[in-house]
Amino acid sequence: MNKTVLVSGGAGFIGSHVTVELLAAGYDVVVADNFSNCDRTCFEGVKKITGREDLPLEVMDFCDEKQTRALFAKYPIDAVIHFAAYKAVGESVAQPLMYYRNNLQSFLNVLQAAQDQGGCNVLFSSSATVYGEPDKVPVTEETPRKSATSPYGNTKTMCEDILRDTVKASEGKVRGILLRYFNPIGAHPSALIGELPRGVPNNLVPFITQTAIGKRECLSIFGNDYPTPDGTCLRDYIDIVDLAKAHVFAVTRMMEGKMKKDCEVFNVGTGRPVSVLELVNAFEKVNGVKLNWKFAPRRPGDVTAIWADPTLANTEMGWKATRTVEETLKAAWAWEKHLAGK
Ligand code: UFG
Repeated sequence: MNKTVLVSGGAGFIGSHVTVELLAAGYDVVVADNFSNCDRTCFEGVKKITGREDLPLEVMDFCDEKQTRALFAKYPIDAVIHFAAYKAVGESVAQPLMYYRNNLQSFLNVLQAAQDQGGCNVLFSSSATVYGEPDKVPVTEETPRKSATSPYGNTKTMCEDILRDTVKASEGKVRGILLRYFNPIGAHPSALIGELPRGVPNNLVPFITQTAIGKRECLSIFGNDYPTPDGTCLRDYIDIVDLAKAHVFAVTRMMEGKMKKDCEVFNVGTGRPVSVLELVNAFEKVNGVKLNWKFAPRRPGDVTAIWADPTLANTEMGWKATRTVEETLKAAWAWEKHLAGK
């Protein structure tokens, strides 16, 4: 019998790509989402890509303990990948209680249900934000975490600790993997699923594609006086399909009992620093479009430079990012054009 993976927040940007890769790897998947920050577009896209019209979807809220328990009672859940969370840095600064309540409560309920069913494999979607402004780049999993600059970032650090403590107390019944993502970008090569931000995008690539398609007038590049080669910030942009595949490696590692410790941490990045300006130039070149952009003041809270040392994920999990920035930016543009019906 196939193993079953519950994907909380499975209709969102990362969750939908992960669902596609899990199904391709032969897992049964249950998608659960409350559609608070996405619509049905990506869920429908997943069904089209995989040909799985019967893909189970549970519309529910993980902040509701009863609903969460009922879900675990309904399906034989071997692993859960937890994405369901709010993720806008600026909004979290304005509404911290909403972020702490939602992001912590939902994860506590998932862990309680996992523990009460006698154990489970739990994969938590963490972020490079837990490293803050690192003293040394690239960052390894041993790089000390720093206090986050936003309540959103704090929820990631807190959920990491909550999972670690739960695993420790469960004496091997609950196992955990923390995946720390760098900057996921792009879209599925089919252009049937991708990033669908509500309102004005916070992140760079959706802002670029929306500007190129004419939805936004001009991209602001935040800061050109950073101590980097071209003065703009450096990040580790990772293709969404590469990132999704890392989850399959991690889930399989847990299922097959290959973990070295009951709670493991992996950076999920490429190891390749790219500046904002380089990314903008690459987008224009690979897609043959001219982008309207200007330099603007620094954005508060941005770190100067962060990229991953992905050696541990490469050697231990056997996973490696394979796509070039150019391939990824082509996919991002194809998705934006698909949305525009072009
Ligand atoms: N940027 C611009 N213009 C924009 C948007 C972004 O110049 O319109 C720049 C930013 O200043 C930054 C780079 O593009 O230098 C990347 O910005 P993103 O917002 O795309 O990504 P971040 O690195 O800021 O965000 C990531 C994760 C978040 C996490 C955050 C922590 O996406 O989940 O790191 O700092 F919280």
